[in-house]
Amino acid sequence: GLPARVRIYEVGARDGLQNEQAAVPTPVKAEFIRRLADSGLTTIEATSFVHPKWVPQLADAEELFPLVSSLPGVALPVLVPNRRGLERALALGAEHVAVFASATESFAKANLNRTVDESLAVFEPVVRHAKDAGVHVRGYVSMCFGDPWEGAVPLHQVARVCTALRDMGCDELSLGDTIGVATPGHVLELLHLLNEVGVPTNVIGVHFHDTYGQALANTLAALQHGVTTVDASAGGLGGCPYAKSATGNLATEDLVWMLHGLGIETGVDLGRLTATSGWMAERLGRPSPSRTVRALSHK
Ligand code: HMG
Ligand code: MG
Repeated sequence: GLPARVRIYEVGARDGLQNEQAAVPTPVKAEFIRRLADSGLTTIEATSFVHPKWVPQLADAEELFPLVSSLPGVALPVLVPNRRGLERALALGAEHVAVFASATESFAKANLNRTVDESLAVFEPVVRHAKDAGVHVRGYVSMCFGDPWEGAVPLHQVARVCTALRDMGCDELSLGDTIGVATPGHVLELLHLLNEVGVPTNVIGVHFHDTYGQALANTLAALQHGVTTVDASAGGLGGCPYAKSATGNLATEDLVWMLHGLGIETGVDLGRLTATSGWMAERLGRPSPSRTVRALSHK
């Protein structure tokens, strides 16, 4: 069966904007996040405390976070790649952080300048300190279904990294299809394997980029397996600057259209959300790739 309610984990302000060539002014980012919250989204990934040279688009994290951190009833997770990132986030009162691992060596090197095991060793004290500080920790795993350098990714490699993150104390995982190559059978195979190795479905979120137009189909498969946390980005913004074949995430509007059609609650007002993405598309100077945004904007 399908869940009665899905928690949408909105990544447009982080995964979306990290990949924009144009510099988006900090007040515009803050307004985007406020409008996302006004649309009914309650988990909005705000920014990343990564090295500003690695992701210049999010170099204003210190300025942005305080502008949005007191939105009532909204969790604002931020990415932290290491101790330095966690310290920066904690100094601003962040209550939700995310570390981000890779299932492949090539992407661990490209994205974190470390091997998979070196990056896990960096995360271990980060997760421990975050938990000691009472902070909720998500562990992303990138390249769960395919890697631009290595091709198909063996499932056991993904399971190993997921298990390591769980053992460290991550409260939830997010399975990243960073380059959008997954198909529904592949998703189910991974979910089954994760259950077999002791990772329960209720700690698993899914993070599909929509490169091959499979994100919604993959999401439906995951929902049928019992997953209730789905990552999406308003207007379909997104990508990863360190994985060239990555395009935008599953558009939140496309997701909401499907979920509401299935009678699944999200708390999101689709009209307001579409207006927000339309507003952001104007700021970015290009139309949203979301089919739902386009359909509803032409009404
Ligand atoms: P590095 O160059 O190996 O860093 O980068 P280092 O540890 O050698 O440190 C070098 C210098 O950087 C030091 O300064 C540090 O203090 C400083 P120095 O002592 O030389 O003056 N430094 C920092 N400064 C500010 N904030 C920090 C920080 N860390 C070190 N946090 C590092 C390693 C991890 C920092 C770098 O590789 C990095 O920032 N990577 C982030 C890449 C990134 O953000 N990628 C996109 C997000 S992941 C994604 O999009 C995928 C996802 O959506 C899921 C999916 O789709 O699959 C989540
Ligand atoms: Mg991503």
